[in-house]
Amino acid sequence: MPDLIYDNHGRPITYLRLAVTDRCNLRCFYCMPAEGIRYLPKQELLSYEEMLRLVRLMAGMGISKVRITGGEPFVRKDLMYFLKQLKQIQGIEAVNITTNGVLTTPYIPELKALGISSVNLSLDTFNRERFLEITRRDEFEKVKACFEQLMAHQIPTKINAVVMEEKNTEDIIPLAELGREHPVSVRFIEEMPFNGEGSHYPVLVWTHRKILERLQAHYPGLKKVQDAPHATAHSYQVPGFKGDVGIIAAFSRTFCGSCNRIRLTAQGTLKTCLYDDGVLDLRNLLRSGASDESLAQALKAAYMQRAKDGFEAEQKRKFHHPASESMSTIGG
Ligand code: 5AD
Ligand code: SF4
Repeated sequence: MPDLIYDNHGRPITYLRLAVTDRCNLRCFYCMPAEGIRYLPKQELLSYEEMLRLVRLMAGMGISKVRITGGEPFVRKDLMYFLKQLKQIQGIEAVNITTNGVLTTPYIPELKALGISSVNLSLDTFNRERFLEITRRDEFEKVKACFEQLMAHQIPTKINAVVMEEKNTEDIIPLAELGREHPVSVRFIEEMPFNGEGSHYPVLVWTHRKILERLQAHYPGLKKVQDAPHATAHSYQVPGFKGDVGIIAAFSRTFCGSCNRIRLTAQGTLKTCLYDDGVLDLRNLLRSGASDESLAQALKAAYMQRAKDGFEAEQKRKFHHPASESMSTIGG
């Protein structure tokens, strides 16, 4: 095992979130304006080969877990080819994926065979009309089928639901109820301002506390369970449920103290916090012929300048004030 590398606040960096595309086939209103965002030309995206080189390097620097994000990962061509290569990298113990489920179902048997560690399914409602209203696309039935197939194949699954005033608060309990019969973690996420420039800056009504109160009111027996180290979700058990429920204080940023993660955007920019606006242009280094050694040095230097939390990272932004770019371009 390679030595762990610690940041300037003593946190080991072991987890990479890797966006393979900035494109998406949905238009979730908390992520993009209705007309979408300006997508990057293909040559500005990292190639799979470039990504694999970076992950190999990072695996030698203590990264052991990779989550594939986007945009929607399955919108990128030949994703399964890439996942297979990724799985073979020595030191990468877990490969996970976050998907909206629209194109995913046909790949589920292959994901299972590959030994995918878990799938996070973004799903904010179990109601077709509200799904259309939130995502601006009438694709609920496909996502539902994806959930059912994930369960049928016994793939560890989490549901990510963003909680929004006047949009889906009536869905909190029906979504949580999925855990009654299925071994699924249903996680409720505070809405963040990453919705594509100019659309709206959310006023956070549904804080993690308010979400918890709603769950407690409905499930008086709700019990706190031990969270995994570095977890962003606070998890709870409902007596008799096969699954559990979680709350992610993504806007209140309660979990930064144990943050072990870095991000690589689809265009090859390193982010050492979700709330920073990019701290290192790895694509430029790669394409100008940098050696592995100099890439590693640049990474370590970035680790030593990490903000202590998402508030500091947001304050130190260079380009976008306040944070407002689309989650689809930053990889979530
Ligand atoms: N606020 C909170 N969560 C968001 N996501 C996307 N945009 C936002 C936002 N503005 C979620 C998606 C996905 C995860 C990667 O991030 O639901 O599940
Ligand atoms: Fe697509 Fe996910 Fe953004 Fe929705 S939140 S538009 S599914 S990238």
